[in-house]
Amino acid sequence: ALPGAAAALESPDTAPAGKPAAVIAREVARRRTFGIISHPDAGKTTLTEKLLLFSGAIQLAGTVKGRKSGRHATSDWMDIEKQRGISVASSVMQFEFREHVINLLDTPGHQDFSEDTYRVLTAVDSALMVIDAAKGVEEQTIKLLDVCRMRDTPIVTFMNKLDRETRDPLELLDEVESVLKIECAPVTWPIGMGKNFRGVYHLLKDEIMLFKAGEEKADGAFEIVKGIDNPKLAEMFPLEIEQLKMEVELVHGASHVFDLERFLSGVQTPVFFGSAINNFGVREILSALVDWAPAPRERDATVRAVEPTEPKFSGFVFKIQANMDPAHRDRIAFLRVCSGRFEKGMKVKHLRLGREVKLSSVVTFMASSREQVEEAYAGDIIGLPNHGNMQIGDSFSEGEMLTFTGIPYFAPDLFRTVRIRNPLKVKQLHKGLQQLGEEGAVQVFKPVLGSDLILGAVGVLQFEVVASRLLNEYGVDAVFESSSISSARWVSSDDKKALSDFENQLGHQVAYDAAGNLAFLATSGVNLRLTQERWPKLTFHATREHA
Ligand code: G4P
Repeated sequence: ALPGAAAALESPDTAPAGKPAAVIAREVARRRTFGIISHPDAGKTTLTEKLLLFSGAIQLAGTVKGRKSGRHATSDWMDIEKQRGISVASSVMQFEFREHVINLLDTPGHQDFSEDTYRVLTAVDSALMVIDAAKGVEEQTIKLLDVCRMRDTPIVTFMNKLDRETRDPLELLDEVESVLKIECAPVTWPIGMGKNFRGVYHLLKDEIMLFKAGEEKADGAFEIVKGIDNPKLAEMFPLEIEQLKMEVELVHGASHVFDLERFLSGVQTPVFFGSAINNFGVREILSALVDWAPAPRERDATVRAVEPTEPKFSGFVFKIQANMDPAHRDRIAFLRVCSGRFEKGMKVKHLRLGREVKLSSVVTFMASSREQVEEAYAGDIIGLPNHGNMQIGDSFSEGEMLTFTGIPYFAPDLFRTVRIRNPLKVKQLHKGLQQLGEEGAVQVFKPVLGSDLILGAVGVLQFEVVASRLLNEYGVDAVFESSSISSARWVSSDDKKALSDFENQLGHQVAYDAAGNLAFLATSGVNLRLTQERWPKLTFHATREHA
């Protein structure tokens, strides 16, 4: 265990063993639910695979990856994804490590799918930020970190690819601090890099882990040398060890000491160096997640905050995925459990519809397959078969009217007008877009005036996915044409009259989204600014929460 571990763990054993409350408390305390944030190519897939290797969940490296070499990841499900070799689908993997249940929520790395990625991050309790040490902080990482900040999600940082020539480690920390505005507390420090990468020095344990390329062992045990002053080290690599001592002195003087409280409140990130492809430094990250990252915490809902250890089940849908299994045309709603104990076959209330549903054929996501789930606790993700009546943000509970908050929609910045070749298919088009809108695959806007539908997306590939799914699933051959719209803002106001005036005067640019929220569609940045100035009683939002 890492230093500070005891402090991070809640005490699950205080209630009498065997009692339901004690069982729930124990199960919650041993859960860690996290996602990986990174810029494409930083090594997320490689790292995911190595993390799974530890749990024995996969025997062979290449099960998750291999997408570029033709063997497809288990999460690959759509032709378009296979053609492109990118991960459109994000999936969930559950595995055990040191008596803990780890839920790893995979996020699509391709920037075109960032909207989905953003929402996945609302369902995690911590995040692992992977940075390519040769490149430093990249664009996608900046955006994702901003999303984590909305909920002060604790972040563990992994500087990857130290087996290559990288940037100066101190400079990397500086960049993270200045660009991402988060304090860095180095926990391990690299010795050399590239061809001269010798290993890492653990600043808290005062020991050196020696690097060996190509380690593919599940336990990832590397040789450890105790103490930076150990004469053995000076014998092995005298030059690098002198350099290390100088740097460590600098680091002790100039950087932050790891502080669990600061990490948990999201203002500080512990930083580890390593090489995912060599499985080097990976176990240290898993240990950090288990020892330091939070177990599920309370979640805000409309009426009150919900504790994970409450006896009654509750949870919310953060993602809907179609065609997980091409053999069945199914849609799966991913629900994060927030409290209580889920049991197969239990009856819960679908709060938006005020309806009771029986959760019988619910699935869980073990690393390599989908399995029927018997029970689940806060932090776990379960998959509900969705017969077209679930939306992102929907809450479920055993009775009480709780609606979880904080599941965002982001204003799209790409727009298309939809036309269909066969006018008789207009009904199917509307039905298809309604469902795809609910899934969050695309945002659909219906202007108050005119019969066009406007689609909004964060990434251009979303349009291709929607076109292909409209054709295959709804039999609609749709054409997407460029649109004069350049940005969208949701509009709200306490002043009902101002809202209806706005709607009446700007009908071509005022639209309703799939959930019935009013939005303004701007044709340019200037147009948006002027409109905001002209309508001071209205508030324009770049994000909206599921209502
Ligand atoms: P991503 O999911 O974040 O997009 O990244 P991915 O894991 O696919 O890794 C991107 C590339 O970086 C891959 O190489 C991968 O092998 C490489 N990589 C990951 N970790 C390390 C590391 O620790 N050291 C080095 N040197 N490389 C690493 P590729 O050539 O794009 O793909 P492939 O042909 O190896 O599959």
